[in-house]
Amino acid sequence: MKLNTNYLGFNLSSPIVPSASPLSENVDNIRAMEDYGAGAVVMYSLFEEQIEHESHELDHYLTAGTDSFSESLSFFPDMNTYVTGPDLYLEKIRRAREAVDIPVIASLNGASPGGWTNHARLMEEAGASAIELNLYYIPTDIDISGEQIEKRYLAVVKLVREAVGIPVAVKLSPYFSSTAHFANELCKVGASGLVLFNRFYQPDLDIYNLEVVPSLHLSSPAEIRLPLRWIAMLYNRIPADLALTSGVHSYQDVIKGLMAGASVVQMASELLKHGISRIQDILEATNTWLEEHEYDSVEQLQGSMSQMHVADPSAFERANYMRVLKSWQEDPMGTAL
Ligand SMILES: Cc1cc2nc3c(=O)[nH]c(=O)nc-3n(C[C@H](O)[C@H](O)[C@H](O)COP(=O)(O)O)c2cc1C
Repeated sequence: MKLNTNYLGFNLSSPIVPSASPLSENVDNIRAMEDYGAGAVVMYSLFEEQIEHESHELDHYLTAGTDSFSESLSFFPDMNTYVTGPDLYLEKIRRAREAVDIPVIASLNGASPGGWTNHARLMEEAGASAIELNLYYIPTDIDISGEQIEKRYLAVVKLVREAVGIPVAVKLSPYFSSTAHFANELCKVGASGLVLFNRFYQPDLDIYNLEVVPSLHLSSPAEIRLPLRWIAMLYNRIPADLALTSGVHSYQDVIKGLMAGASVVQMASELLKHGISRIQDILEATNTWLEEHEYDSVEQLQGSMSQMHVADPSAFERANYMRVLKSWQEDPMGTAL
């Protein structure tokens, strides 16, 4: 059976897309992803801070030099050819583009409107098929309202949208007062896809050494439920393709994501832990399941358990909360949860 799916205007050969992670720093890994059946690949992120830092450093360097020696400009390499962190990223896009036929999605990570967003155009020129814009920000300022933050995000998306001709997907956090409304606003400023959701890495406290410890844990399968629910609720309600990220570890998770309404499911933790070849195992098992359950295509499956299509749409809303709490009394071991 064919596992084709449409995402961001591309017809992908499969719905599994390795998400942004260090795996894509290496072009051999990207080749392996394609060989094992990935439909596309999202590169690791280039961060706003990297771009801004670099341009400040370079400005300072050049200005300091020209002040002291008028002829010194000739010593410096041309700004455009200077090999920098962001330049290395563009080089990796070029190499990936040459190495594989699947779409290579570049990842730009930031949160404030500024010149760094122009890097999206350089990514397009380097051969990126699409941009995944990760809006990762922790709003801590007590004087800034949610509305101001949303406006800022929309301005960033608009800038990136205006910089490129290729599709732009936005990877966002689950923490909005009105997630569905904001998702639709993102579409209005030009997002063709939404990637749900960013995983937040919460620091821990070391009570013995009195330190705040940054810690990275890979995801667990239970984490799929948050994006699953929102994808089910947004499917066919907003004009964007949906990608599910967080907690995809098995073929069951792939099927759940597609049934909820995702066009693709992204994977990082599972591939980091068990290797890129997991893509093939999971695709084969997905295929077998679809055949056994007499599905002819991914399209037939997609959205079949979205809020619009399930028998009880309230299962995704407040009524579900009340039912879940009640199920504890009926089933104290919690197996129904
Ligand atoms: C080691 C590591 C590095 C990551 N780097 C990035 C990154 O550069 N940009 C990004 O958008 N997400 C990044 N992520 C998040 C993943 O793309 C993904 O959204 C998240 O891990 C949830 O998916 P999972 O449950 O399949 O791991 C990273 C995740 C891990 C574990």
